[in-house]
Parts: sequence; structure tokens; C-alpha cells
Amino acid sequence: MSKNKNTYKFDNMEAFRKLKTNIEFSAVEKPIKVVNITSSCANEGKSTVAFHLAQVYAAKYKKVLVIDCDLRRPKMHRYFQISNQVGLSDLLVFIDKQPDLSTYIQEVTVTDCENAISVLTSGSKVPNPQELLGSSKFKKLLQALSKQYDFIILDCPPISMISDTFYVSNVSDGTIFVISMKDTKKDIALSSIRQLERSRSKILGIVLTKTQNLSSYDYYYTYE
Ligand SMILES: Nc1ncnc2c1ncn2[C@@H]1O[C@H](COP(=O)(O)OP(=O)(O)O)[C@@H](O)[C@H]1O
Ligand SMILES: [Mg+2]
Repeated sequence: MSKNKNTYKFDNMEAFRKLKTNIEFSAVEKPIKVVNITSSCANEGKSTVAFHLAQVYAAKYKKVLVIDCDLRRPKMHRYFQISNQVGLSDLLVFIDKQPDLSTYIQEVTVTDCENAISVLTSGSKVPNPQELLGSSKFKKLLQALSKQYDFIILDCPPISMISDTFYVSNVSDGTIFVISMKDTKKDIALSSIRQLERSRSKILGIVLTKTQNLSSYDYYYTYE
């Protein structure tokens, strides 16, 4: 497993600690172990939430994994400053050959974070992201990984244009829906939430990003 000693600085991690507590409290029947982060459109702050939430979980758990499921506009490798030469798409292609996971999953050391964070970047560009994410291979991979990791965060594409995320949210324990106070149109957000509900995704909560009256890195968490 490759080790990257990058250093990072964060604003307002308290908001993410609250988010983590809320996720934990939303687990009534079984503990939430796999969450996916999505929103209506691009640039609303999904990957930023995934990236920061991972730090907060890594303060508590030894084995936290982030998977970049946005195979169209991947960003996690940039946020963690690591290579995206191989990743999820490559791993799925070779999954039947029992590949060595450490070839695909990178460990990133983060400042002020006791435990390293494991990151599976998106990997090689593929023409059929939907097919890969909707495949039984992806489902099986996630089932296997959830036995090995304490917590898994799935960074997803937006849902207003493409349906990749519905496949991911169906195999995760819950969905965090991101709304940007600056960018998100109310009707598009509502329609996305309805689509998620129709696809039987369990929406755990809504995170508001880019809030106007407060620091732009304040996050709120609410869902009725
Ligand atoms: N809470 C926030 N306040 C201000 N800017 C933000 C916030 N969250 C994200 N951004 C910025 O918005 C842009 C898109 O963020 P990103 O998390 O990559 O979006 P997405 O994954 O939804 O496409 C980035 O430039 C990021 O720095
Ligand atoms: Mg993103």
C-alpha cells in the first residue's frame, strides 16, 4: 500500500463532527457503516463533504475508506493529492481474479488525524460508468469491503442528469444529500430528493453548503 504524507488544513471541523454524530443517531436498527454523498448538480460540495467527513471518522476509527464513485468527474484523488492511475473501475474489471486490494487502495496520512485514510480513487476512464456501478461485481465488492473497513464513504455523481448514484445509494446504508445555498435550485433539489426516495434510498440527512450569512464552511444537517 502506498503511503502519502500530505498535510492538510481544515476549517470548521466541528460542523463535520456534528454531521458524524447525526449519522450515528440516525441508525435505529443497524449501525450505519456505508454512506453515499450526493446532490442534484455538479459543484454543490459533495466531494468536499466526503473529504472532510472522512477525517472526522478517521479520528475515531482505524479503518476508514473513501471510494470515488464519480467515474465521470472524479475529484477524490485531487482532494487527497494522490494518483488516479488505478482505482475503482480497474479493480472492478479484475475483481473475479481476486486482485490484491493494496494495488488499488491507497493510504493517505492526514495532519491531526491519528489514523491513515484509505482511498479508492475512480481509476481509468470508462465508457459505461452506469453499467459498472449497477453491476453485481460492485455490490459484491462493497459487501467485501464493508467487512474489512469500519466506515465507508462513497463520493457520488450528481443525480439530476444521470442515474449512476441510484445504483450506489441502493447498496449503501444511507444517503447524505448536499444542497448548496448558493447554487442549488429548490425545484431541482426537491425533484432529486423525490427520485432518491422512489429508488428506495434511505436519506439520512441534508447538508447545506455555501451558506450566505455564515462562514461558507458551515454545515447543517437536517431531514424530516
Ligand atoms: N461549503 C463550501 N463553501 C464554499 N465553497 C465550497 C464549499 N464546499 C465546496 N466548495 C467549493 O465548491 C467547489 C465544488 O466543490 P466539490 O466538493 O468538488 O463539489 P461536487 O463534488 O459537488 O462537484 C470547489 O471549488 C469547492 O472548493
Ligand atoms: Mg464531486
